[in-house]
Amino acid sequence: TVELNQALLALDWLLGTWESDEPGEGNFPTIKPFHYTETLNFSHVGQPVINFTFNAFHAETKRPMHRECGFIRMQPGTNRVAFIIAQNSGLVEIEEGDLTGQQLNLQSQAVARTSFAREPHVQKISRVIQLRSDGRLEQSVSMATDNQPLMQHLHITYRRSS
Ligand code: HEM
Repeated sequence: TVELNQALLALDWLLGTWESDEPGEGNFPTIKPFHYTETLNFSHVGQPVINFTFNAFHAETKRPMHRECGFIRMQPGTNRVAFIIAQNSGLVEIEEGDLTGQQLNLQSQAVARTSFAREPHVQKISRVIQLRSDGRLEQSVSMATDNQPLMQHLHITYRRSS
């Protein structure tokens, strides 16, 4: 196995596979609240990049739902982190933010979508990913759309599975 690139040592706590410990909660003013499960994987091949996949499933039927994959980079010598993300909904985005301890605070810097994406369109995304002192990983995602201000869409916690 290859050693983690020096540029990403501050993010070593993310590496591996994480499974939601209890169903995550999905919300937004315009939708019916829902529950979901999710598996996260963070890996690397020695490059100054972490590769990730987030796969979400319907909590009851286990049917595959939302998926994201992408890359994480850090600005050398800083605590600045960038997530480069593609989503199965047809959305792509760059999120940037700071790493403070084991907490990432990210904001979308660029959002683009397929020409035929459903409305309302997402205008802004912010996300917090943190390793809690109890060893669980926690993720909250907020979004703003054409017709709703920035508000929480997702909250979920995970347990490390490998
Ligand atoms: C609805 C965006 C992640 C499940 C929506 C809507 C948007 C959206 C724009 C429509 C809101 C409206 O009609 O006003 C996003 C973004 C995500 C994300 C940007 C990630 C950054 C997820 C995840 C799940 C999920 C992980 C888990 C299964 C749903 C469901 C709905 C929904 C069930 C309501 C039904 C539907 O419109 O399909 N999401 N979502 N989303 N989202 Fe997400």
